[in-house]
Amino acid sequence: MTKVKVGIIGLGYNGRQHAVAHTVSNKSELVALCDRDEHKLHIVGKELGVRNLYRNYDEIMADSRVQAVSIHTPDGHHKEPFLKALKAKKHILVEKPLANTEEDLVEMVRAVEKEESSLKIEVGYILRFNPVFEKIRELVHSQELGQIFYMESDYVHNLLHKKNATDPITGNNWHLQDQIPMVSGGSHCLDLLRWIKGNNPTSVFSYSNHLAFPELSSDDCMASIFKFQDETVAKVITLWAPECPRDPFFNLRIYGTNGTIERDQFCIGKKMAEQRSEFKPIEAQRIKGHPYDPEIDDWLTAIIEDTNVRTNLKDGANSNMATLCAVKAAREGKEVIIPVFK
Ligand SMILES: NC(=O)c1ccc[n+]([C@@H]2O[C@H](COP(=O)([O-])OP(=O)(O)OC[C@H]3O[C@@H](n4cnc5c(N)ncnc54)[C@H](O)[C@@H]3O)[C@@H](O)[C@H]2O)c1
Repeated sequence: MTKVKVGIIGLGYNGRQHAVAHTVSNKSELVALCDRDEHKLHIVGKELGVRNLYRNYDEIMADSRVQAVSIHTPDGHHKEPFLKALKAKKHILVEKPLANTEEDLVEMVRAVEKEESSLKIEVGYILRFNPVFEKIRELVHSQELGQIFYMESDYVHNLLHKKNATDPITGNNWHLQDQIPMVSGGSHCLDLLRWIKGNNPTSVFSYSNHLAFPELSSDDCMASIFKFQDETVAKVITLWAPECPRDPFFNLRIYGTNGTIERDQFCIGKKMAEQRSEFKPIEAQRIKGHPYDPEIDDWLTAIIEDTNVRTNLKDGANSNMATLCAVKAAREGKEVIIPVFK
């Protein structure tokens, strides 16, 4: 089978995990690595046996052996390598969130429209590959839950330890300066809700505060209510500094006229009060950590077999846009209409 020659840009936690996944995939060959931190670059290069090591992403773009790049630079720093990869005609997997501003997001989408290329571009909304969420989507689409009228999903994650994650090269800490909880974590929630429901939110209202994580430049607590195209109401909360351990399963709740999903359990109603239905576990494998292997497999299969990726650019951009509008709603204290990339 043809193997896609892949290069990784950004070798922090997330980029390294993707690099490792490419070393075990039978659809790719990891041929190049790029990170502006030379020390990290050489450590990961040695660990994974990769010899083409670049400190600047212009160099990886100029390497004609690299057919596809996987971009894992910090939030708010995906646009530049993305546009360069597009110009260099490399297939792209780009981390969420695509952008921290509406302007950058629109620029990325318009650039792809202008190129009119057949490049395969996947946005890293990796939760779509969790078997439990795949099963939940199947349940919703099979109509077993009836008509969905309310959904919620929360990103509750204590990231106080990132206070000390100073970049040795720049002396900055992007986690504090560039991470917007609703956009970075909340867009995972929005993405799951949009993907499972199969339509888009049209408007949002939010409240937020900045009490638990004062070092963060954005508000660390935000609660947003979204209205979807079909009138479904959805709530998303992002908490960046809750003083508690993480829940064993991500909070996703979906209420339909015939049944309910709460986290990784579901029940189908019996319609009679004296025969209350019970929650049962969703029948799907429980995995630990992120499903990197199926995510990269989806992207590589699309490149090799010319199929569609699970999360294309406009799809990922719509999840991102909804969260940027949620942040705007909190800032302006009013409802914001969410534009959709069609
Ligand atoms: N999909 C997911 O579930 C998921 C999970 C974790 C992180 N992420 C996303 O992945 C991205 C990276 O997160 P992380 O936790 O790995 O961050 P990190 O700080 O651990 O790594 C970022 C790396 O990028 C490198 N870098 C920064 N600017 C660069 C440049 N101009 N050229 C080359 N290298 C550069 C840094 O040296 C660092 O090694 C973020 O956007 C984050 O939101 C996504």
